Amino acid sequence: MKDKTIRKTNKQIIEELQARRELARSGGGVERVKKQHNAGKLTARERISLLLDEGTFEETDMFVIHKIREFGMDGKTIPGDGVVTGSGKIFGRLVYVYAQDFTVFGGSLSSAHASKIVKIMKLAIQNQAPLIGMNDSGGARIQEGVESLGGYADVFLQNALASGVIPQISLVMGPCAGGAVYSPAMTDFTFMIKGTSYMFVTGPDVVKTVTSEEVTFEELGGADTHTTKSSVADGSFVNDLEGLKEVRRFFTFLPSNNNEKLDPRKTDDSIKRISPSLDTLIPQNPNTPYDIKELIETIADENDFFELQKEYAKNIVIGFIRLDGLTVGVVANQPLVLAGCLDIDSSRKAARFVRFCDAFNIPIFTLVDVPGFMPGTTQEYGGIIKHGAKLLFAYAEATTPKVTLITRKAYGGAYDVMSSKHLRGDANYAWPTAEIAVMGAKGAVEILNRSDLNDKELIETKTKEYEDRFANPFIAAERGFIDDIIIPNNTRFRVIQAFSKLKTKNQKNPKKKFGNIPL
Ligand code: HXC
Repeated sequence: MKDKTIRKTNKQIIEELQARRELARSGGGVERVKKQHNAGKLTARERISLLLDEGTFEETDMFVIHKIREFGMDGKTIPGDGVVTGSGKIFGRLVYVYAQDFTVFGGSLSSAHASKIVKIMKLAIQNQAPLIGMNDSGGARIQEGVESLGGYADVFLQNALASGVIPQISLVMGPCAGGAVYSPAMTDFTFMIKGTSYMFVTGPDVVKTVTSEEVTFEELGGADTHTTKSSVADGSFVNDLEGLKEVRRFFTFLPSNNNEKLDPRKTDDSIKRISPSLDTLIPQNPNTPYDIKELIETIADENDFFELQKEYAKNIVIGFIRLDGLTVGVVANQPLVLAGCLDIDSSRKAARFVRFCDAFNIPIFTLVDVPGFMPGTTQEYGGIIKHGAKLLFAYAEATTPKVTLITRKAYGGAYDVMSSKHLRGDANYAWPTAEIAVMGAKGAVEILNRSDLNDKELIETKTKEYEDRFANPFIAAERGFIDDIIIPNNTRFRVIQAFSKLKTKNQKNPKKKFGNIPL
């Protein structure tokens, strides 16, 4: 008997596949895409194609749909279910990506949507490649209920498991509200887009009901808020285009995983390049500020510095440079702001960065010009002891190569904290202008001569005496706390030399599950 069913031809089958793909690629449809563009935002697929090297994106789970039946969702499906996931390359290196598609159910997260994200997170961990998430979502899929909440928790779990194994980067490019904010917060770096992205646990309406505060979306959770006030975001960009371009640049500084040593980037910048301007960087007057970023940029390969959290806790500067082609994390006191004092915010900012570098074996270059911890009730009540201890702890446990340079002040506890020899600094240098002491001369003399404070002449003489004795790097160098006092113009060479000898460093902490950093 002949088979009477009319089978599709292979051509028809392939055409059907193409049509299904086209449907998935069209997302929420022409009108919603237009709305997305009019809001100044690119679509999920446009974002992915700009982030990745041309033609490298391989999509997974393009045909996934939700299983929701309630609230009119039965049969109302769009393939992909509001998130585009897959892998590709950035400057030839493998990366896993997901981009929420706001044109499909507002990018809201259903359990199917979450499963897609979880699948590529697991692949990223297994294949030891970084993960970049682009968030643009109305939050939990309201029609689904608790399953979507479960989906979020599944993502959070993978964020925690991936932490310290592969770098995780979040680009918040639209709404990110409720518990949804916690996935970006659990990743290593979060970047936002000015004017079109926001992050908050509860929106302005709930805020008004609960606290009677009237606040706009932008004030509550816009890019400026999170880069200047909360430190939730590590940086922000003017639009999607700039954000994606800069994340590509940022990616070049990061290894793919905690086992990989990044290949050095080719550079024509000579390691022996002398920088005469550094000989006069430190002002004659020890209380005159100068910009530590000048030093960082001067010694970096091609003067290229990717600064993180630049608008937050400006009294400390963090970011990445390359030295002779190799990525180095920089932590530097900034004398231009609060005289470079360590306070709660700067300690937290630097501690997390030190831990990221250590987790991924990125060498740390620490620049020290610090008059001490910030005094006062605001700091004490805010827990400066605990927060300062975070930085101390982070440096102490770090086994990645550590090179330290004291340019001027290294006073008190802050001397200890800032990657001192005592915390296993591998190479500790000072410029001849360094002052390493328990505290500044004036303060020290006033404490030691309390009963003679009215004798101005005596105080001046004693201050001069204290400065002559302690305001230099030689006492520390005599004790071996400083390995060498170097000529400023030769800093690039000396620091590169130090790091090159540390390439084979092998240091281990006592075996444990993990240390209990004062969170
Ligand atoms: C289902 C949603 C949605 C959601 C938006 N949409 N959010 N669908 N679940 N959570 C849909 C809208 O119905 C609309 O569909 C489309 O997405 C675009 O939304 P608009 O409101 O038209 O866009 P816009 O005016 O730009 O406003 C964006 C918005 C708003 C501010 C994000 O949509 C909004 O407030 N959404 C709800 C936010 C929220 O409360 N989410 C739950 C948070 S609690 P159509 O078909 O008309 O295009 C949460 C808990 C997580 O997330 C806990 C994890 C632990």
